[in-house]
Amino acid sequence: MTQRRILVTSALPYANGKIHLGHMVEHIQTDIWVRFQRLRGHECYYVCADDAHGTPIMLRARQEGITPEQLISRVREEHERDFAGFNISYDNYYTTHSEENRHFSEFIYRTARDQGHVEQRTIRQAYDEQAGMFLPDRFIKGECPRCGSPDQYGDNCEVCGATYAPTDLKNPVSVLSGTRPVERETDHYFFRLGQFEDFLRTFLGSPAVQKEIANKQMEWFASDQGLADWDVSRDAPYWGFRIPDTDDKYFYVWLDAPIGYLASFKNLCTRESIDFDAFLKPDSQAEMHHFIGKDIAYFHTLFWPALLKAGGFRIPTGVHCHGFLTVNGAKMSKSRGTFIQAESYLRHLNPEWLRYYFAGKLGNGVDDIDLNLDDFIARVNSDLVGKVVNIASRCAGFINKRFDSQLADSLPDAALYQQFSDAAGHIAELYETRRYQQAMREIMALADRANQYVDEQKPWVLAKDPEQLAEVQAVCTQGLNLFRVIVTYLKPVLPRLAADAEQFLNAGVLNWNSAASPLLGCRVNPFTALMTRVDKAQVEAMLADNATAALPASQQQQQDGGAEATGAEAAEAENMPATAGPLAGDPISATISYEDFARIDLRVVKITRAAAVEGADKLVRLTLDLGGETRNVFAGIKSAYDPAELEGRLTVMVANLAPRKMRFGVSEGMVLAAGPGGSEVFILGPDPGACPGMRVK
Ligand code: 2FM
Ligand code: ZN
Repeated sequence: MTQRRILVTSALPYANGKIHLGHMVEHIQTDIWVRFQRLRGHECYYVCADDAHGTPIMLRARQEGITPEQLISRVREEHERDFAGFNISYDNYYTTHSEENRHFSEFIYRTARDQGHVEQRTIRQAYDEQAGMFLPDRFIKGECPRCGSPDQYGDNCEVCGATYAPTDLKNPVSVLSGTRPVERETDHYFFRLGQFEDFLRTFLGSPAVQKEIANKQMEWFASDQGLADWDVSRDAPYWGFRIPDTDDKYFYVWLDAPIGYLASFKNLCTRESIDFDAFLKPDSQAEMHHFIGKDIAYFHTLFWPALLKAGGFRIPTGVHCHGFLTVNGAKMSKSRGTFIQAESYLRHLNPEWLRYYFAGKLGNGVDDIDLNLDDFIARVNSDLVGKVVNIASRCAGFINKRFDSQLADSLPDAALYQQFSDAAGHIAELYETRRYQQAMREIMALADRANQYVDEQKPWVLAKDPEQLAEVQAVCTQGLNLFRVIVTYLKPVLPRLAADAEQFLNAGVLNWNSAASPLLGCRVNPFTALMTRVDKAQVEAMLADNATAALPASQQQQQDGGAEATGAEAAEAENMPATAGPLAGDPISATISYEDFARIDLRVVKITRAAAVEGADKLVRLTLDLGGETRNVFAGIKSAYDPAELEGRLTVMVANLAPRKMRFGVSEGMVLAAGPGGSEVFILGPDPGACPGMRVK
C-alpha cells in the first residue's frame, strides 16, 4: 500500500463561545478519520484553530472590559482543554489571529486583486451613529415587513420566514444602542465569484463534494443574478486584518477564517520541518480534506475553492459535511437543559462513551444525528461493556491466574481468527468512506461472535477438570486474540481503551496490520477493568450541572437557528450577541435570548407599605399593589432608603419570579433597582401616567 500524505481540518470554532456537544460531533468525526489514516500508516496531519476575528468578538471583549487579544487567548485555552478532554488528536491547534494568517490572507487577496477578481464599489449600509459603526444585518432589529412580527433581525423573519434587506424592516433599531440606524455610503471590496463559475461547476460535480450538498449549491448558479459577488471588506471599527492599501477597511472574518487552515498548517510545518508546498501546490499529490457542518457548506464549496484557485493553491480533495446534533429528538436547547457543554459532559462522563455513541450514529451523509440519552446509556453498556470488554474479562483471569499470564502457542480455532482478520479490508473501507455507523455494526457483530465462542467453549467449566487445563489456556488465548482484533478495529474511536488494552496485551502498539497475525506464546500483564458502565445517575448529574452553567445566547442561536446559511451575513450572525446592551459600563456576563427575555413578566406596582425587617441589616419588607393583587417582597435597599419615603411610590417588579423562602418570610418577586450599592441604590419608576398592574414592554 502506498503511503498517502493527507491534511485534514475541522471547522474553526468561534473564539467567543464554549465548546458544546454540537462541535464534538464534528471534531470526533474528524478525529476518528485521522486516527484511522494514521493507524494505516499514512502521513496524516490534523490542524484546527480558533476563528478569532469579527464584530461579535470585538463587542464581547468590550463588554467584558478586556482586549480582543485577551478574550481570544482565554477562550483558546478553554477550547484546547475541552478538545483534549475528548482526546482529539490535532497536530496543531492555532488561532486565525496569527502572522501566518495575515500573510496568507494578504497574499490571496493581492493575487486575486491583481488578476482582476476584486472590485471596489460604493454601497449604502446601515450605520449606528451612537455606537459609531456600520451594522451587520443581524445587528438590526425591527418589525417584519411581511407579517409585522416585532423583534425580527435585519435579514430574515423567524416567524414567517421572509427574507429581506434591513432597510425593509419597519421601525428598525440597532441592537447595540437601541437607536434608529441611518444609511451611509461606504466603499467596499467585492470578490467576483461569478468569474469562477466554470471552475466551481466542475468542482461541485467532482467527488470532492457530497451530491446532496453539490445540488444545493448549484441552485446559486441558477438564481437571477447568477453567483453573487462576495463582499470581503468591513469598515472600521472591526476586529481583524486591515486590507492592504487601505486605511480603514478590514477583511471580513469569513475571508480569513478558512485561510486559517493554511496558516495553522504552515505554523506546524515550520515547527516540524514539513514541506508545506508539497501539500498546497496546485498539482500536489497530497490530499486536503475539510470536515464541516452543512450550514457552512456555502463557504467551503464556493468561496473557499475560489479563493484557493485565485491564490494559486491546490483545491480540496474532499469537503465532508455532517448534519446537526439533536438531543432527545429535538434541537439542543438551553431551556430544555439539552444544550450540553463539553466541559459539563467531561466533568461527569467518560469521553470514550460519546466517541463510540457518535461513531455508531455517523454516516457519510448530512442527516442530523440524535443523542438520545437513554439510548446512549443502553448502547454503551451493552456494546462496549457488555460485549467488547466482556470478552477480555472472561478470558484474562484464567490466563493471569492459572497460566502465569502466558498465552498458548497456537490457536484452537484458527479459521475463526482468520474470519476476524479478514474483516479488516471491509471495515477499513467503511472508515475511509466515513460510514462509521456501519463499521461499528460490523465490529459489534464480531464481538457477538467472540462472546458466542467463549459461551460455547465454557472455559469456566473446563477449568474444573485438571485434564482440560491446556484447553482452557487455548480457549482463553483464542478469546483474547479475538478481543485484540476488535480493539484494533475500534482504536480510531476508542484511543484510551486501545491504549489500556495495549498495556494489558504487552505486545506494543496496535496498528491496522496487527489483526493479520495472532499473539501467541507470550506473556500478558495483569488485567484491570477497561471500562465501567454508564449509570443513569451520572447522566442526570451531568444535565443538572450543565443547566447551571451560564451560556451565551449566541450558542443557542447557532443550533436553535439550525437553518442552513443563506449568505455571508447569516453565518456571521451565528456568533453575534442577541441583546441590546451598552458598550461601556459593567461587563455583561452572559446574554439571553429574546425568548428568555420575553418570559420575564415586568409590572408597574405601587408600594403600599414599606417597613424595616427586624434582625436584617439590609432588607425592607415591601407590600406591593399590582392593580388588585398584593405581593410581599423583601428588597435589599435599606442602606439607601428610609422605608417611610417609599410608601405611595410606583416602581417596577419582576412578577413571575418563583417565590423564595427567606428567613423572614416568603418573597414573592423582586423590584428593579440600579446602582453600585450602599447609599447609591435607585429603585426604578415609571413615568407619570403608568398605573399599578401595567405590563412593562
Ligand atoms: O461556523 C463557524 O463556527 C465558523 N467559525 C467556522 C469557520 S470554518 C473555517 F472556514 F474557518
Ligand atoms: Zn414575518
